[in-house]
Amino acid sequence: MSQAKLTLALSKGRIFEETLPLLRAAGIEVLEDPEKSRKLILPTNRPDVQVVLVRASDVPTYVQYGGADLGVCGRDTLIEHEAEWGGAGSVGLYQPLDLKIAKCRMSVAVRADFDYANAVRQGARLKVATKYVAIARDFFASKGVHVDLIKLYGSMELAPLTGMADAIVDLVSTGNTLKANHLVEVEPIMDISSRLVVNPAALKVKRELIRPILDAFAQATA
Ligand code: PRP
Repeated sequence: MSQAKLTLALSKGRIFEETLPLLRAAGIEVLEDPEKSRKLILPTNRPDVQVVLVRASDVPTYVQYGGADLGVCGRDTLIEHEAEWGGAGSVGLYQPLDLKIAKCRMSVAVRADFDYANAVRQGARLKVATKYVAIARDFFASKGVHVDLIKLYGSMELAPLTGMADAIVDLVSTGNTLKANHLVEVEPIMDISSRLVVNPAALKVKRELIRPILDAFAQATA
């Protein structure tokens, strides 16, 4: 019988970079640099642990279907994934830890010359472009603001600049992207950080492999 292997799903970029120190704390070194290699399965110093590189929004899907045993993804990604499946808790992913990495915030932004506060006060119907449809829908519903949501997959900053939308809902970290595109942040929606997600069946079957990693991550993020 082949030895059980643990698969961790990560996305390239900030999440990958900021997960590395946590993996190190668990005694795991990733042996290839995703910025230099085209490989999608990265070996580690542990023959029983591998990393798979997937799109950020695919991390919950891989873990849900068992393509990966565990993964790291943003709170934003998780909320949107769960909304597709019928709301919080519907997917059955075990979410034991907020890793407090890849921190940023979800915010509403508009063109500097758009009077957002006044539009909201007057009960205007806003056109809002976003990749984060569930988060935007819930947020504006809770404020009692009527919105027409326009789903985009990236470069949301363009929507107000081209006149397609009045506002965007997007992630803001340094604020540089907004500034470079003459947009201003007008309302924060929620703080975002990345979470560890675990496939519940894998947690049962591969407990001896997963538990020490959970413990090391918990200690490193405490
Ligand atoms: C996010 C977000 C903004 C940018 C904000 O994009 O969509 O474009 O980061 O960061 P800043 O405030 O530090 O400028 P990301 O780079 O995650 O890629 P994406 O466009 O694929 O979402």
